[in-house]
Amino acid sequence: MLNFKKEIAKQIANVTNVNEKEIEKYIEIPKENTNGDYAFPCFKLAKELKKAPPVIANDIKEKIEIDEKIISKIEIVGGYINFYINKETLSKEVLKEFENNKEYGKSEIGKEKNIVIDYSAPNIAKPFHIGHLRSTVIGAALYNIYKYLGYNTIGINHLGDYGTQFGKLIEGYKLWGKEYNIENDPINELTKIYIRINDLCKEDEHVLEQCRYNFKLLEEGDSYCKEIWTKFRDLSLKEFQKVYDLLGSKFDSWNGEAFYSDKMQEIIEILNKTGKLVESQGARIIDLADKGINTPCIIEKSNGSTTYATRDLAAILYRARTYNFDKALYVTSYEQTLHFKQVFEVAKLLGLDEKYTNGLEHVPFGMVLLPTGKMSTREGNVVKLEDLLKEAIERAYEIIEEKNSELENKEEIAKKVGIGAVIFNDLANSRIKDEIFDWDTILNFQGDTGPYIQYTYVRTRSILEKATYISMIKDIDIKLLQDEYSLNIIKIIYNFEDTLIQVTNKEEPSILSRYLIDLAKAFSNFYNENKILGEEENLQNARIYITYMVSNILKIGMSLLGIQMPEKM
Ligand code: ARG
Repeated sequence: MLNFKKEIAKQIANVTNVNEKEIEKYIEIPKENTNGDYAFPCFKLAKELKKAPPVIANDIKEKIEIDEKIISKIEIVGGYINFYINKETLSKEVLKEFENNKEYGKSEIGKEKNIVIDYSAPNIAKPFHIGHLRSTVIGAALYNIYKYLGYNTIGINHLGDYGTQFGKLIEGYKLWGKEYNIENDPINELTKIYIRINDLCKEDEHVLEQCRYNFKLLEEGDSYCKEIWTKFRDLSLKEFQKVYDLLGSKFDSWNGEAFYSDKMQEIIEILNKTGKLVESQGARIIDLADKGINTPCIIEKSNGSTTYATRDLAAILYRARTYNFDKALYVTSYEQTLHFKQVFEVAKLLGLDEKYTNGLEHVPFGMVLLPTGKMSTREGNVVKLEDLLKEAIERAYEIIEEKNSELENKEEIAKKVGIGAVIFNDLANSRIKDEIFDWDTILNFQGDTGPYIQYTYVRTRSILEKATYISMIKDIDIKLLQDEYSLNIIKIIYNFEDTLIQVTNKEEPSILSRYLIDLAKAFSNFYNENKILGEEENLQNARIYITYMVSNILKIGMSLLGIQMPEKM
């Protein structure tokens, strides 16, 4: 497809002798249509060209030679040059691209680049909480979008299946395992055991010692400890799978922390050789004060057991070797910011190529809060996610029942709407913001929500169904698509691929969520202002095609976010 931005950059580069790529970076897309479609801030070149911005602007405007078919008007406003693209060319380009490309916006720009995404990662024998849900949803959206852009993506569920707490759980299980119905309700029952054994440890030093010993045995591969641990892991995974099934989550690798149990020795040896691994109160640490990080990274605890950080270091080495990654993303709440700062800094000591250490990136996100504050159930513990997702489906069902009780397959639709609403809410705003979890907002069919986009999609489907045909673009008169509402849609559709690229530049799926909201709103305006069916044939053809494009892009975009579309609702 014709790249207007590149064309403009090429011309400005020509007349200023500044590098085209640099120019391209400076070109902006103005918020207001009245400032053109693209704008070039001339002050960016003031230093380099040793001229005042208005002078630069005039120079460029005078000398530039852009085909009228590409740019129809150039205007100087302040130090900016505003470019108005030729809307007929734009429309032609978009329609042509759309007709030729079944998977619109799909690209190869990521070809031969490997992206590892570490996300979800709940902890064995502990509840799969709302923070893990957010990680799962953000990670999956990034995964899908990278993949669509042609990257080779590897999704890893770095399960929290290791650590000293397992020594305690094993001990508790040995003492009271028979009293608890672990098979039936593994997470809750194991949590109870964990609380009980923790209390006992506080009272009885010997028990604590035994717990530590259990973990040591586990690390050494003791068969009894391993057997119990495996049982906890399997039962927990079965429970987590219920949530993954509801969300439709898939991973390429389930290598959790335990996977690295035999890979940490190498890390300790490498770090030892650097001379930076030092003793501190019996533990072995790397001091990071000179890197501006005041808390040292603990590599080995005083009792000789390894840490969460050591396992992450082993994982970096393993992933570099196995996946030859260009980027390795870690999607967790911002509470782990310090942890990743430490780990990424220590990773520089592992002797890896800079390509790897530069590719490490923490992708933090904010907390999920209830309108009343922190999230908790009546009993004061964490909301069970499976229940939350089921509640979403039930609530969606009630709304659908109320709006359109005649519908077939209401259950299936409610599932798509309910789950889609929860997922979209997690992705609707920039990820670092804390998110308010409020049922009424999330499920509002008129808000900036998943259901609103689904509802708009369903409208497009019903129009297309009534039309009974999709127009061929050879039968479309582009001149009939030059009204404000149609053009607005065409412009948004033109920006689809660029939007996906921006998501990957910032690891920010909300850029796509906002985009889809804008597209849905643009369609609602178009629909309110323009008749689609029953117009004179040429006009009807043109408008059907607009509807068809919007319908497809809403569907592609939502599926990239991990959300399914109902065909009716
Ligand atoms: N299991 C951790 C938690 O629940 C998240 C793991 C994130 N990934 C990583 N490689 N550290 O907080």
